[in-house]
Amino acid sequence: MREKLLNLKNEALAQIIQATDPEELERLRAHYLGKSGVLNQISKEFKSLFDEEKTETGRLFNEIKSAISQALQPKLENWKTGKLENLDITLPGIRPPQGHLHPVTSAIEEISSIFEKIGFIRVRYPEVDWDWYAFESLNMPASHPARDDWETFIVDAPEHPKLGKIVLTPHTSNGQVREMERLGHPPIRMVNIAKCYRRQSDVSHTPMFHQFEGLVIDENINITHLKGTIDYFVKQFFGPNRKSRLRPYHFQFTEPSFEVDVTCDICLGKGCKLCKEGWLELGGAGMVHPNVLKAGKIDSEKYTGFAFGWGVERTYMMKSGLKIPDLRLLYSNDIRFLNQF
Ligand code: DAH
Repeated sequence: MREKLLNLKNEALAQIIQATDPEELERLRAHYLGKSGVLNQISKEFKSLFDEEKTETGRLFNEIKSAISQALQPKLENWKTGKLENLDITLPGIRPPQGHLHPVTSAIEEISSIFEKIGFIRVRYPEVDWDWYAFESLNMPASHPARDDWETFIVDAPEHPKLGKIVLTPHTSNGQVREMERLGHPPIRMVNIAKCYRRQSDVSHTPMFHQFEGLVIDENINITHLKGTIDYFVKQFFGPNRKSRLRPYHFQFTEPSFEVDVTCDICLGKGCKLCKEGWLELGGAGMVHPNVLKAGKIDSEKYTGFAFGWGVERTYMMKSGLKIPDLRLLYSNDIRFLNQF
């Protein structure tokens, strides 16, 4: 609303300055200040505002209304009385408000460029996909209990005889077998960044969020390549004083599997009130399970690979100096919050 009002003011003042005859000024007056003019229309939208916003927006509204009428009035009177317009061309211009990218968009751009520097290729895969790519090809057959962790939205649509149901992708791992199919053979070095959806909403979860998924497949790929890539990313994204570690874990699509931790930005690993033991959890990773390579028609005797998948919002929040108390703020479209980035 604030933005809308400010834009309106700029637009109105620019038109008034440029108006060259009294008819045009009268038309502008009716358009902006008239009974069924734009400002009156906008004032009807006040009802939908939160109480705390109403006062501030109301003040801005009045300011803008009088700015427009103050710009119109003298010009109109000058015309009526035949006086020449008193135009001061040395006055500074009106600067339009400048926007910027959404913080999640900037994080995605930064993450892509970090991986692109070491030869990863940014790919995009469907955000509404078949069960086969989201689960089954990742070594999670239909009734596997591990699927429960993904709290998936299932689309009410006919099933495909081979690919199964349609789901809103609960993770970016659906890009793994799709990329193997696209290229047909290694080497593969992809980073898939996309929206993901899960049935969850609280201070640390939004039903829609983003993940970035790395996948590397080639001859002789081993855990040291995974660790090296993670270390490189952590230093580039979080800064040279942050460290990473791999902690044993379980995923169906990797063997062995890990959770990746990063040292806390406050205590740098010593342990403090905020992180307890010095480390913050970033996300999952591991060596690609041979069954996943087979699902992507890749020779699992000849090739090996590693993969990782992390939440963009989560990773972004762990960057130094950023403490967002409720992740849902990122998507509430509140300009007062977004303006701070
Ligand atoms: N897809 C997993 C999730 O959403 C994260 C993940 C774990 C991705 C391990 C990977 C991996 O590629 O190797 O929780």
